[in-house]
Amino acid sequence: MRRRLAAGNWKMNGTSASLSEVDALLDAHPAPGVEMVLCPPATLIAALAARRGRHPLGVGGQDCHPEPSGAHTGDIAAEMLRDAGAGFVIVGHSERRADHGEDDALVAAKARAAHRAGMVAIVCLGETLEEREEGRTLEVVGRQLDASVPDGATGGNTVIAYEPVWAIGTGRVPTTDQIAEVHGFLRDRLSARIGAQGAFVRLLYGGSVKGSNAAEIFAVPDVDGALVGGASLKAADFSPIVAALEEAAAREAP
Ligand code: PGA
Repeated sequence: MRRRLAAGNWKMNGTSASLSEVDALLDAHPAPGVEMVLCPPATLIAALAARRGRHPLGVGGQDCHPEPSGAHTGDIAAEMLRDAGAGFVIVGHSERRADHGEDDALVAAKARAAHRAGMVAIVCLGETLEEREEGRTLEVVGRQLDASVPDGATGGNTVIAYEPVWAIGTGRVPTTDQIAEVHGFLRDRLSARIGAQGAFVRLLYGGSVKGSNAAEIFAVPDVDGALVGGASLKAADFSPIVAALEEAAAREAP
């Protein structure tokens, strides 16, 4: 009922030379059994979209401005990402929340912009280490979910990525029990927030996902895939994660 999704976030990494990694990834998964999406820097979106040819690889941006156009030097509208070939856009990544002071209301406005442009918003949320140690994880992610996911969110236009800030780029990963607790909580909360569509929204886990831990994470209930940073840059690192997700999907299929 929810197609599994492996999404890569290249962050501020990659030039046109990096596109050879995409060729290698597509060669390794010519007909993927899960949805595959790469979010390169905005400078590479058009080239990546052209490069995939007829391959079903999805292409995404890493951020967008809430407005469709205007005097916002350096910003990119969702419509522009769409025009360049993107079908997805990450909003509310913790690095943007921290580096650019983005709050939940702005993240929701960006997700609405993605929807307006006909794209899927990948809405990120997650607690800091301090919040977890204070026992506030569910309170924090619940508040972020309520305020960052806009009205009109559906399984077709929205993906949620749970990314504990302390797990991003650190090699530290929550236990599978901790992931299960948060994903189960988010699933229930989503249904309270958007009703029946809550059952169709994919919930990704993100934070230090690698080939070596992917299978264990993908076996957790309500984990529909992953948002992968560092390990998405090289085909040799991302491909085993995609393969683990394909195996999880195949096990679940009737
Ligand atoms: P990481 O990043 O996989 O490098 O930990 C995840 C993310 O920020 O999406």
